Amino acid sequence: MAKDFSTMEDSNCSSNPSFHDISLPSRRTMLRGSLGALASNFLAPLSAVGGAAALTACATTGGAGPLLGFKSVALSTADLVIVPEGYSVQVIAPWGDPVGLSGEDHAFKADASNSSAHQETQFGMHHDGIHYFAQDGSKSGLLAMNHEYTDEGLLFTDGMATWTADKVRKAQAAHGVSICEVQDKGGKWEVVKPSPWARRITANTRAQLSGPAAGHALMQTAADPKGMTVLGTLNNCASGITPWGTYLTAEENFINYFSGGETLSAHDKRWGLKKGGGGGYRWHEHDARFDVTKNPNEPNRFGWIVEIDPYNPSSTPIKRTALGRAAHEGATTGVTPDGRAVVYMGEDSRFEYIYKFVSRDRIKPGGFAENATLLDHGTLYVAQFAEDGKGQWLPLVHGQGPLTAANGFADQGEVLIKSRQASDVLGATKMDRPEWISIDKNGWVYCTLTNNRSRGADKQPGTTKVNPRANNTMGNIIRWKDAGDFAGTTFEWNHFVLAGDPSLARADAKGNIKGDIFACPDGLWTDGRGVLWIQCDMSTSAMGKGDLKNLGNNAMLAADPRTGEIRRFLVGPSGCEITGATGTPDGKTMFINIQHPGESPSERSDPKAPGAISNWPDKKPGGRPRSATVVIRKNDGGLIGT
Ligand code: FEO
Ligand code: CA
Ligand code: CA
Repeated sequence: MAKDFSTMEDSNCSSNPSFHDISLPSRRTMLRGSLGALASNFLAPLSAVGGAAALTACATTGGAGPLLGFKSVALSTADLVIVPEGYSVQVIAPWGDPVGLSGEDHAFKADASNSSAHQETQFGMHHDGIHYFAQDGSKSGLLAMNHEYTDEGLLFTDGMATWTADKVRKAQAAHGVSICEVQDKGGKWEVVKPSPWARRITANTRAQLSGPAAGHALMQTAADPKGMTVLGTLNNCASGITPWGTYLTAEENFINYFSGGETLSAHDKRWGLKKGGGGGYRWHEHDARFDVTKNPNEPNRFGWIVEIDPYNPSSTPIKRTALGRAAHEGATTGVTPDGRAVVYMGEDSRFEYIYKFVSRDRIKPGGFAENATLLDHGTLYVAQFAEDGKGQWLPLVHGQGPLTAANGFADQGEVLIKSRQASDVLGATKMDRPEWISIDKNGWVYCTLTNNRSRGADKQPGTTKVNPRANNTMGNIIRWKDAGDFAGTTFEWNHFVLAGDPSLARADAKGNIKGDIFACPDGLWTDGRGVLWIQCDMSTSAMGKGDLKNLGNNAMLAADPRTGEIRRFLVGPSGCEITGATGTPDGKTMFINIQHPGESPSERSDPKAPGAISNWPDKKPGGRPRSATVVIRKNDGGLIGT
């Protein structure tokens, strides 16, 4: 997200692969009885998985040929999506269009007069993480996508001039996750309506808590005295998937929805709770759940990684507390050679941490049912980077080291609910806003550190080799490789790239990009050929100013991890950020999300002039801009990026 609240004090066919670039077997295949193939496929070297398409892709990558074959696009400030020559774009699934629920087809109303009930059946706002779950290979599948936050100036005809319980309900309905069915209909992708797979999960959908913090005293509320059931998921930012075919959605800046009172506890302060609320959402005025003076434990029930089975439209989303609580950006999974799941997670706030979870148990052949508790048992670690290019993963385990009752951690549940405090006392490394994480074909794990204008400021942590730039306006991408395999408790690290404009005189913002310039890397995805896709989120409050002058609109670039070469592939419309990337197994269709086109520096649009900055994608004069999914294809039917 672009929001930069002050509260955030501020293929080479490796045997240790990520599986993000591998298509999941289709539900149809699974239902035919090939469940056993699912997990076992993910444990094999990439050359043996993913079907013929992946084999081809892997063979291609493994050769000496170049990964990047397209001609770079130029910087742009046009209110358009621009792609290289020979490529085309198509827009699907914009905010407000129906997701395809049976019997519910409420068309988008351009004046934002759709009701809260309509919004519960429509795509939410501010698309973010996304994944294509294949059903019929590369011809049809399910898209699961996050809707991170809302711009009330666009969501309501009169913005926030009036504020009612029904407006809160509509705003909550515009959050969460959408699942829709998509099909390639003769070269054009369509959202299938109606579809039995279509689903909306909102800030009011019942979710289950599981793992060590479920039922904890700090999770109990008047409405849920057992501390086991939460309504909804919030501020869903980046996403991930599991080898057993589920979607992981990350709850990021949840604290901004909650309103604190005059007196804030040390715990509230550590998580950035503000008197009256820090994000201006004003939900607490009509929904007491978000009034912390009335429901002090409700914020503890957010900030989790939530697992969703997209293939079961009636399944209950599960908040996996074993993975820790954070302003989670995303969740990226690798698999160890012995079959355990390792989930890497960044916490996008200034001076927060990078985590990984290693499952206790091995992944079982099958789908969600066979692995329903896999993410409930394991060890959570936080990263400590050393100056010498090495590092270690510090376990967040109650009773080990300082994580004791004497230091305020009564049990493992409290360690997980207070992951930030636990990481503080362990001496983990305070990073420059860790966002998305991706794993390349050699087992290197990449993390975008989007920016941190407070690095080196008065009374703030200074620079180190790990976070090397004071007033880090440009951001960078760090990478590490765990010793042995993904479960290793030590690692080596280096910087993949320091972003920045080489024409700048200031060495600290200049960067060392081999190729096209960019700033503020955020989204990150490794495709089936091994291309590392980098998506940018220069905040609209900072774009065009200072060090971020002359960088145009936010862009998506393609990097070759072997050579470090980076080429600009796409530039988005005015005021947007580019986020979320996925593709079909054949590598010929890519889906990305355009979030908040038309965003103003205040991050809330003027409802009297909603199209002042952008009217993408509808391009109706003065009309509301809408976040949407963009489908990218090569005109000759070739692989994306070639
Ligand atoms: Fe939601 Fe950190 O981007
Ligand atoms: Ca992000
Ligand atoms: Ca961001």
